[in-house]
Amino acid sequence: MAKLVINADDKKAVISPEIYGHFSEHLGRCIYEGLYVGENSDIPNVNGMRTDVVEALKDMQIPLLRWPGGCFADEYHWKDGIGDKAKRKKMINTHWGGVVEDNSFGTHEFFELCRQLGCKTYVNGNVGSGSVQEMSEWVEYMTFNGVSPMSDLRKANGHEEPWTIDYFGVGNENWGCGGNMTPEHYANEYRRYQTYVRQYDPEKPIKKVCGGANVDDYHWTEGVMKTCFDHVPEQFHGFMDLLSLHYYVHPEGWEIKGSATDFDDEVWYKTLAKAIHMDELLERHSAIMDQYDPEKKVGISVDEWGNWFTVEPGTNPGFLYQQNTVRDALVAGITLDIFNKRADRVRLACLAQMVNVLQAVILTDGEKMIKTPTYHVMRMYRHHQGANLIYSALADVNETGKGEWNVPKVHESVSEKDGIITATINNLTVDETIDLDIILAGKRDLEVVEASIVTEEMHAYNTFEEPEKVIEKKFEGCSKAEDGLKVTLPPASVVMLRFK
Ligand code: AHR
Repeated sequence: MAKLVINADDKKAVISPEIYGHFSEHLGRCIYEGLYVGENSDIPNVNGMRTDVVEALKDMQIPLLRWPGGCFADEYHWKDGIGDKAKRKKMINTHWGGVVEDNSFGTHEFFELCRQLGCKTYVNGNVGSGSVQEMSEWVEYMTFNGVSPMSDLRKANGHEEPWTIDYFGVGNENWGCGGNMTPEHYANEYRRYQTYVRQYDPEKPIKKVCGGANVDDYHWTEGVMKTCFDHVPEQFHGFMDLLSLHYYVHPEGWEIKGSATDFDDEVWYKTLAKAIHMDELLERHSAIMDQYDPEKKVGISVDEWGNWFTVEPGTNPGFLYQQNTVRDALVAGITLDIFNKRADRVRLACLAQMVNVLQAVILTDGEKMIKTPTYHVMRMYRHHQGANLIYSALADVNETGKGEWNVPKVHESVSEKDGIITATINNLTVDETIDLDIILAGKRDLEVVEASIVTEEMHAYNTFEEPEKVIEKKFEGCSKAEDGLKVTLPPASVVMLRFK
């Protein structure tokens, strides 16, 4: 019989709420239509932000939002997006779909959105095509409260008080769309640019994110860490709070990618196996970081993760619009469990992307909005935010798979907060119901306070005609046993149990 053994006395790191963060880029219908419709839209909005989307994201307990990109960030010139909207520059979004970007969503709008969401802010600066001065002035514009040209400009544009930048990314993918740099060159640029990301308010320090590797580019991590940590003067402390990592799952590889909805058992297991690869990536990048930062002062920010499939037929290939099935729910569950278990190093992560792009939690069509299976998983997992990771281990759990792709049948993580234990458990099999005994060290009489599940046939997804095909439901497959709990996990399911 498969077992899940838990020890609540064996506390690990606190799970940073920011691991449950999101990413919004000026890409396709993420910002425009998805989040921002403008004050004059017929779609209900508050200061231009869609009310339905904001309410759904708040209900999911979104902790953090990254903006404006992505590749867009290294072409973004922030002064184009402030002041009178009628006079803002119009331009072509050369990266994404060749459509007109009218800059109506800019700095003020981003902070207004985060205010409505009640979430932390992660602003990504431009290293690839911007200057140190431009980046430095943006930080001054956003956060300085005294008399200065940029602070005065912000006030003249209608915002008296400075905003809070919780995280600031110094460039994005500078090994690629952010300037095609070598690790050593980027690291020197990072050292220079971050110097001028001034900390104007000591009460609200900005955490700086250094641009990290793509997938398994360990050479990049080594080169960046070595160069950044070479001759670090004392006053330089805090020069790097996080190092990023980007990893997307493409079942059929980068060129072909693969359909979001049409796949067989083998591709199911291939996708889940590729999602589990995240664990090895974190292990190995972290081991390199340990050489320079053994105390783990620098966290990993997986600020782009998720499934990247072939776009939905008939949609603009540059908009990266894809559907979201039960397979995405499993990839979300597995990945979030991996982040939880690596909470000692992973301190921030952003699903790519929040609305209408890649593994989105929300899809919109005009005034209609649906929540995807990934939304429901992220909402279920919200109880892990800020909780203590605790020891958990599976016993007597075999592997399953098809062709060359094998995965463990069950995948989990467990945390504790305010005396309540949250266990999230994924059944990765396509067709096997799994009985699992849950044993909590030192306690036999367990009381379940909440239990829910996301499951359906593996291809199932929500549409605008049938928006509730895959949703979070009450989980009935859990009962008390003599020495803990007995759980029956349906195939292709993500389960969340809370007990004490
Ligand atoms: O999320 C889509 C793109 O993927 C981002 O703009 C870029 O950073 C990454 O390559």
